[in-house]
Amino acid sequence: MTAEKIKELVGKMTLEEKASICSGADFWHTEAVERLGIPASMVSDGPHGLRKQDDKADHLGINDSIKAVCFPAGCGTAASFNRELLSKMGEALGNECQAEGVSVILGPAVNIKRSPLCGRNFEYYSEDPYVASEMAGALIHGIQSKNVGTSIKHFLANNQETRRMSSDSRVDERTLHEIYLAAFEGAVKKEKPWTVMCSYNKINGTYAAQNHLYLTETLRDQWGFDGYVMSDWGAVNNRVEDLKAGLDLEMPGSMGVNDKLIVGAVLSGELDEDVVNEAVERILNIVFRFEENRDHDAVFDRDKDHEMARKVAEETIVLLKNDGVLPLADGQKVAFIGKYAKAPRYQGGGSSHINSHKITSALDAVADNANVVYAQGFDDGEDKTDEKLLAEAVEAARGADVAVIFAGLPDKFESEGFDRKHMSMPDCQNELIEKVAAVQPNTVVVLHNGSPVAMPWIDKVKGIVEAYLGGQAVGGAVCDILYGRVNPSAKLPETFPLRLEDNPSYLSYIGEGDMVEYREGIFVGYRYYDKKKMDVLFPFGHGLSYTTFEYSNLKVDKEEMKDTDTMRVSVDVTNTGSVAGKEVVQLYVADRESTVIRPVKELRGFEKVELAPGETKTVEFILEQRAFAYYSVRIHDWHVETGEFDIMVGKSSQDIVLTKTVKVESTVKLPFVYTTDTTMGDVSKDSRALAIVQEVTKGGMFGDRPQESESSVASEAISEEMNAAMFEYMPLRGMISFTGSATMADVQALVDRLNALDE
Ligand code: BGC
Repeated sequence: MTAEKIKELVGKMTLEEKASICSGADFWHTEAVERLGIPASMVSDGPHGLRKQDDKADHLGINDSIKAVCFPAGCGTAASFNRELLSKMGEALGNECQAEGVSVILGPAVNIKRSPLCGRNFEYYSEDPYVASEMAGALIHGIQSKNVGTSIKHFLANNQETRRMSSDSRVDERTLHEIYLAAFEGAVKKEKPWTVMCSYNKINGTYAAQNHLYLTETLRDQWGFDGYVMSDWGAVNNRVEDLKAGLDLEMPGSMGVNDKLIVGAVLSGELDEDVVNEAVERILNIVFRFEENRDHDAVFDRDKDHEMARKVAEETIVLLKNDGVLPLADGQKVAFIGKYAKAPRYQGGGSSHINSHKITSALDAVADNANVVYAQGFDDGEDKTDEKLLAEAVEAARGADVAVIFAGLPDKFESEGFDRKHMSMPDCQNELIEKVAAVQPNTVVVLHNGSPVAMPWIDKVKGIVEAYLGGQAVGGAVCDILYGRVNPSAKLPETFPLRLEDNPSYLSYIGEGDMVEYREGIFVGYRYYDKKKMDVLFPFGHGLSYTTFEYSNLKVDKEEMKDTDTMRVSVDVTNTGSVAGKEVVQLYVADRESTVIRPVKELRGFEKVELAPGETKTVEFILEQRAFAYYSVRIHDWHVETGEFDIMVGKSSQDIVLTKTVKVESTVKLPFVYTTDTTMGDVSKDSRALAIVQEVTKGGMFGDRPQESESSVASEAISEEMNAAMFEYMPLRGMISFTGSATMADVQALVDRLNALDE
């Protein structure tokens, strides 16, 4: 329906009808207005499958939903670094929604993994905003290509579950832009999600639902978002203020209570009716976009989508360690040990929980391989070693050529709604791994978890496979990787720290009461570990393959450019091994010298490339201003400083293979604002300014920078360095104390002259 038609329709609605449209009719539907032919529209969770509830509704995954297909969770799909694959997964989800009459699927969830402890990390993509935004964009693209909407969530700075409905994320402006907003920005600008879901928490004191700055100024005015904003389930606190801030749809609705508040506020003049009209227009625009593009032939083919889920899972499994033990050979005697070989942990708890139509375990996948034996090894109900199960497992391992232990985090260790308290796996599982490895030198651990775990046994096992929460088809995918039928190609979208205490948010995560200060600022994940030169268990971007790749011929199409230009970067990648494989080529940019504090390097591009043995392909990247920029709080915008930048191409954040240095020239001169506190060091960076100060003060402390040879102070107690520093850090207002003749008014007059220099 055209914008004019929708306006016309809204014009025919009563105020009460309009208010009713601004909140859900029930848990999952928007309100209908039958007399005007406005249908109700259904939304459903998300994000990695369809949780459509036909019967009893809830937002925590308590009651059953229809049988559906559980794809790998965000933690895994991000590890694929494969945009095309995610887009295909999106197409499958979009088709499922069409078949089931769901207008918007509630996802993707792009919140940054600030700490390994966040209970919902399994749903989220990365510690890096570029990865999060790119992967989310790909999923959105696929879903929306089927004329079904998405709801990128949870906007904004929602990085913990503790006090999730009242916590107040205190984040500085630069960090918000470089890390937390950036996770949404690219996807919103490029893929135009039909809706955005605002989060429960406050951002710097104001609830996300009530935050005009982010819901309207950033999202709509700057990023061009033109869909509707819906609340997370129960995130509305003040319906009238929320509407004014830009929150269109309250979910799940308030049984009419808030409708009355809206009507009352319009009648009393507190709320402009146009604000209501606009919200209704935005909601109806999406309702009709879906209605008018229904695919009535769509069929939810669960078995077909199960195969798709398996394909996706194959690319989400990260080979973390391999001392020659993998791949397994069909004829080897293998002991599959651990409960998760038979009952994989393949999804997380909460609103994303899918009622899977079938589940393939690793044991199912090797059912016709007579060389595989199974021992349960542990139970995950309670963290207690079962001596009998342990003994059976050790015996099975002893009698085999290889032991593969399927371990990980039980459901009750990580879930929506609460955060983990530590990064450990259950003790009983750690003990099992130690005891099996003690009798079986060829031990491999397959991990099922949504977030990093500590691995005290890392040196005792030969192989580690991170299967994340790989969806209902994970067992088949894991076996394809273990037996080398599929070459692993995923990379970690997050750092695995050695210990929790190393994580940059460790000292302030979850906060004090409701107040959560993001004290680590922009130094999230590898941005921190890199800067601190810290050892980690596995670095961001790490992932092994059964083949080897060589990089050569790193080229840039220009060695110098203006920040308004674009730069084309290319690199040749060759598969130097004997099996086909896929490589995730990562491009990082480092500012060699900067006046602001910046990370050592930041990921600005990645491409996944498939190569046959011996094959070479050229991989290309385009770098624009943003690749070199930081967010300047002085101009409230992105800014590039003129200077040299390293273009680094590598296999992980810690394995940079090729580097090229280029020059970028800024086209924006940041105005220098002089104040009475400006130091002489800063004044002397501009010779015109220094000349003025010298003229006004006639030398002395405000004259020339002291030269080594002519240090005016001969005392042993005062070094030349100290004398130079005294000059460097002397504020202009020091004139009052040290020239003896200046007043504050004189200093201010000088400051005004200096500020006029560039006018
Ligand atoms: C979650 C959302 C979810 C919604 C509806 C909330 O509790 O935070 O991610 O989409 O419920 O189930």
